Amino acid sequence: MRHLLDVCDLSVKELDELIALAEDIAANKQKYAHIMDGKKLAALFFEPSTRTRLSFEAAMLELGGQTLGFSEASSSSAAKGECVRDTIRVVGGYADIIAMRHPLEGAALSAAMKSYVPIINAGDGGHCHPTQTLADLLTIHREEGRLDHLKIGLCGDLLYGRTVHSLINAMIRYEGVSFVLISPRELELPPYALDVLKRAGVNYVVTRSLEEFMSELDVLYMTRVQRERFSSIEEYEKVKDCYILTPEKLLSAKPTMRILHPLPRVNEISQLVDDDKRAAYFRQTVNGKLMRMALLVYLLRDDVRSQPARLASGKSYDGKCQNPKCITNNERELPVLVNEQGRCIYCEHELKM
Ligand code: CP
Repeated sequence: MRHLLDVCDLSVKELDELIALAEDIAANKQKYAHIMDGKKLAALFFEPSTRTRLSFEAAMLELGGQTLGFSEASSSSAAKGECVRDTIRVVGGYADIIAMRHPLEGAALSAAMKSYVPIINAGDGGHCHPTQTLADLLTIHREEGRLDHLKIGLCGDLLYGRTVHSLINAMIRYEGVSFVLISPRELELPPYALDVLKRAGVNYVVTRSLEEFMSELDVLYMTRVQRERFSSIEEYEKVKDCYILTPEKLLSAKPTMRILHPLPRVNEISQLVDDDKRAAYFRQTVNGKLMRMALLVYLLRDDVRSQPARLASGKSYDGKCQNPKCITNNERELPVLVNEQGRCIYCEHELKM
């Protein structure tokens, strides 16, 4: 069966199909109200969430299905030391599809390797968040009318911001897209994400200034500094207020520019911006539910379920992954595998040979 672990698991044709399906669902709610009758979604959230978990649950309910799951690791047997793979094998006996969020990078891939039902990665540490990207794509498509020939500013925590990594992987596949990477030095894109841009030959510039390229942007994608991913509170304090978008900073922006944010926001966008018609971040949350509805319908379609899994593979590696947040460093008997780029297949960190 097919899983969604990384946005690259979906072709551009499939992304376009999902957008069209989400639009059809939005326009014809009744047509889809019973399409998931008798089906169950397990939402397994080992890490906090508002939008992703509740929009997945709302999506399944609106399609006629049912939901089960947990919203924190402490209320699951993970608290007793159960590994992710065992939890997933068990829950596969209770549900038709699983959406899971976990603080460790590569957790969703390790789960999919042992799962009997489709796995949707609802966020694995600072690595990926492909269904947020689906929400982002529908938002950009609705607001800008296209996904190509766009200049996209990515601002804030580009190091730990998993939504940024997934958005880059999606947008590089559309013609004429370029990026402005706006972050402090400490929060620049991780090497594997920068490699994605370089290998794709996509134009990008790096700046510390939120205002420098404002007038050229079609999309400004703001992100929260991810306090929970820092190794010390002092490191977080140094960069936590690095960018705050205010109405004054938007004076030079195009009237057609759109501001996106995966949310939650802390203080990186002033609430004074919320009523600006360019602020699309609350509309983005509704689009997230529509795209999750489309994804559930798609992954549980008979012809898609019968397709083979497309799991990342690699050669065995005789050593440890140097990323302490990699699932391989936190669960027993999970072998480290190295891909053709010399990176750990779970977290994509470079493995030092
Ligand atoms: N955008 C997002 O993932 O929000 P939650 O953490 O609330 O799910």
